[in-house]
Amino acid sequence: MSVKEAIYAWYKTNGRHDLPWRQTNDAYKIYLSEIMLQQTQVKTVLERFYFPFLERFPTLQSVAVAPLDDVLKMWEGLGYYTRARNLHHTAIICKGVLPKNPEELGGLRGIGKSTAHAICSFAYHQALPILDANVKRVLCRYFALSIKDEKVLWEKAWKLLAVKHPYEHNQAMMDIGAMICTSKNPNCLACPLEFTCKGKNAPESYPKAVKKAK
Ligand code: ADE
Repeated sequence: MSVKEAIYAWYKTNGRHDLPWRQTNDAYKIYLSEIMLQQTQVKTVLERFYFPFLERFPTLQSVAVAPLDDVLKMWEGLGYYTRARNLHHTAIICKGVLPKNPEELGGLRGIGKSTAHAICSFAYHQALPILDANVKRVLCRYFALSIKDEKVLWEKAWKLLAVKHPYEHNQAMMDIGAMICTSKNPNCLACPLEFTCKGKNAPESYPKAVKKAK
């Protein structure tokens, strides 16, 4: 079994399939989850913010026509309010309909390249890799990279991507980063990448800390 197949098989049995943003292909609902999850933990988003927000704003159109203050009100307690301002701005700019093109999507306020790829792979199954903080850590360890070099990491993310099932691959990489390849005490024995992981003997030493210039 190749490492790509191992990741896919692992996801089928161990992935967090019950997360609500994994039970929809509505790009807006996926986009909202990705924005909320950029700076907030899954548990908090899930228990307190995701559903009330969708109740008040069931579509991106409903965000576009609402006053900014109403959007900010629903974001209260979640913090990093720029996310809510960007969401409102983006809803207006794209007239309530998100583009399906990753470059166009990534050019919208608050949506970087990785978030654009997450939305396109989760909503439309486009074969694009993601590169958030958790995935960066997994890749640094798997390829034994000393430095978090964005360009190199994107190359590695493309190399590892299972183009036949990008949805499962990307969700799996997020789950592995959050549940197994944690910054402290990673559980290598439970990891589907372990067999060919270059960092498995000293996972906590990747990426190596960059020395600060004196
Ligand atoms: N963090 C960011 N995106 C996520 C997702 N789709 N599932 C779980 N955690 C995430």
